[in-house]
Amino acid sequence: MEKQIKAMREKIEQAAAAIQDSKEMYQLRKQYLDNKTGQISALMKNMRDLTPEERPAFGKIVNELKTWALDFFTSQDARLKAAELEKKNAAEQIDVTMPAAPHSAGALHPNTLIANELIDIFAGMGFTVFEGPEIENDYYNFTALNTPKDHPARDMQDTFYVSPELLLRTQTSAGQIRVMENTKPPIKILSPGKVFRSDDDATHSPMFSQMEGLVVDKGITLCDLQGMLDVFAQNVFGKNVKTRLRPSYFPFTEPSVEVDVSCFSCGGCGCRLCKDTGWIEVLGAGMVNRKVLENCGIDPDEYTGFAFGMGIERIAMLKYGIPNIKMLFESDTRVLSQFSE
Ligand code: PHE
Repeated sequence: MEKQIKAMREKIEQAAAAIQDSKEMYQLRKQYLDNKTGQISALMKNMRDLTPEERPAFGKIVNELKTWALDFFTSQDARLKAAELEKKNAAEQIDVTMPAAPHSAGALHPNTLIANELIDIFAGMGFTVFEGPEIENDYYNFTALNTPKDHPARDMQDTFYVSPELLLRTQTSAGQIRVMENTKPPIKILSPGKVFRSDDDATHSPMFSQMEGLVVDKGITLCDLQGMLDVFAQNVFGKNVKTRLRPSYFPFTEPSVEVDVSCFSCGGCGCRLCKDTGWIEVLGAGMVNRKVLENCGIDPDEYTGFAFGMGIERIAMLKYGIPNIKMLFESDTRVLSQFSE
């Protein structure tokens, strides 16, 4: 009997020595240790053929074999699994010092860079952002802005009409009305967005972007406007840049002004950029017309305000020296990639 047990042990050891795979080892384990079909379990069944005196000794050696086999297979399994893991790790090793494949990154469009810069500057002075719709009512775009249907100033902005009452907004000033209608002063908003005019040449595009500013409170004057525009001009064009106001006309502001900055290219001596004038026009502005305040239910005897509107493309073209507005809309990566921050 003992011989038979010893032979089985040797057989297991021999068979295991030839196995290099943990799954195969598991199959071998099953062959001997499976409760129903295993050969060691089968030995136990042989007990029936023994006399009662022989049984305890036999039971003991079979149990010893079983305990040994359990240990044996556990250590074999650990050995093979460790080897397998090592092999897998070696195969999956990556060289972290290898240069990465080149990956071209996108960049923000110059318009977005300028809009973000403006929002940053004015947010620093307490402005919040309001965005109005691109398809606008005639009322918000013109009538409420003191530009009724027969007003000659409508000719200043060639308009795309969607229907007799709906149009593509020609100016972000429409947002002034939307804000003033619903907000009690103090008001301090910045309104960026696309605007549309039937206009097309090297410096005009049928679609372009504006940044509107509006401040309404008690005691607001033109000096407040110029003070804030000085902060804007010095941040965008340089510390030494000055601003000047020239009289102008917009139906929704009174007085109205055109705002120039001293030429940041020549310092005001005269050059090609400023057409030898020393000044560059950057935006339109003025004190909010009494009639506009009234249209929005704000008492013009109690409150005053200023508004300004600038073309974002114009600022981008000036700041980055872009000669033609179309370059901002052509999506040519050779141009746009020059503006990555
Ligand atoms: N909306 C005007 C334009 O598009 C600019 C402007 C805005 C002027 C606010 C005065 C006040 O030309």
